[in-house]
Amino acid sequence: MKKPTQIVAAGRSKAYTHGVVNPVVQRASTVVFETVAEMQQAAKERHNRTLFYGRRGTTTHFALQDALMELENGAGCALFPCGAAAIAQTLLCFLKAGDHLLMVDTAYEPTRDFCDKILSRYGIETSYYDPMLGAAIEQEIRPNTKVIFMESPGSITMEVQDVPSLVGIAQAHGILTILDNTYGNGLQFTPLDLGVNISIQAATKYIVGHSDVMMGIAVADKQYWPTLREHAYLLGQCTSADDAYLALRGLRTMAVRLQQHEQSALSIAKWLQAHPLVAEVRHPALAGCPGHEFFVRDFKGSNGLFSFIMKQTSPAAVQAFLESLHHFKMGFSWGGYESLVTANQNMAALRSKTGWQQGTVIRLHIGLEDVEDLRADLAQALDVYQSHLERS
Ligand SMILES: Cc1ncc(COP(=O)(O)O)c(C=O)c1O
Repeated sequence: MKKPTQIVAAGRSKAYTHGVVNPVVQRASTVVFETVAEMQQAAKERHNRTLFYGRRGTTTHFALQDALMELENGAGCALFPCGAAAIAQTLLCFLKAGDHLLMVDTAYEPTRDFCDKILSRYGIETSYYDPMLGAAIEQEIRPNTKVIFMESPGSITMEVQDVPSLVGIAQAHGILTILDNTYGNGLQFTPLDLGVNISIQAATKYIVGHSDVMMGIAVADKQYWPTLREHAYLLGQCTSADDAYLALRGLRTMAVRLQQHEQSALSIAKWLQAHPLVAEVRHPALAGCPGHEFFVRDFKGSNGLFSFIMKQTSPAAVQAFLESLHHFKMGFSWGGYESLVTANQNMAALRSKTGWQQGTVIRLHIGLEDVEDLRADLAQALDVYQSHLERS
């Protein structure tokens, strides 16, 4: 079965759907039992898609977990109230005082903040590594290194990592590998196939796909699933049945949405490459993006997210550009059906190992609007940008 077929079929057994197309939304805190034997049986089977207590999930959650486990080719899937929770709690599940964490320098900003502001309080040390390190990561490993965390492509600047090389070194040292796969989404990249132990996604983005639910997921391999499942449970991580239902509904159309995001984003990215105001386009599927060769080797496709770097900049020009866009709204998210834009005028503040010498980075999420409308919108906003540069 191909993945687009799998994400339509997965999690739709009769036990979840009761004979209709979609799983029933089963809202519950309390599960009640008729006999002591029934209750004891539920306690014994509570890890295994069995109704036990609301925090362990209901059939709606089991349907979603089954589907996501298939999507990411894992042994089990833990659900979290958002992507940031999935990252923070998964790290807490596997790290303890005295441990060392190797975190990629291009990690999503709240991931960095969690390491610097919270893990540090528990005696867990984080050091950052260059996203372009492959086997040379070995020099960064210390006797107490327990986790190597990857995010590929990196947040905002889109560097693609050499995942198999990093995993090879991690395995040789018995180190757990975790990857933020929100970009790769399980259809375009499945890190567990390359030996990564745990794949995390902000399901908030492409899985939900409609900008109306916060959710995080962590899919683990056979070795790490029992610990992830039990520790995430002890940390109190759960989601509502309504959100689980909406995530499943989003998942059903993810393959076809991604095709359109990919096509429109590539068309706009190539057009921006030729624009006189643009110094560089950072799109993993286009030559010149750091790690493009790894993208071609490991990914099945790209999506709506990419960035571009301005040749010249001024705060007034950036503000005028952002405020003159009609179809691109300013917003910190991505992965929904709509186009979004953010401007990053101080990238250096988000990079401690590698620094940032280039200019302002504009990140776009290309939505499902007509691509000509989007191009025209960007063209007129770049004209406004130009006129503000000339005035200053
Ligand atoms: C790469 C990446 N990881 C994780 C997250 C966090 O997800 P959430 O907003 O659901 O907490 C985001 C959100 O923008 C993200 O871009």
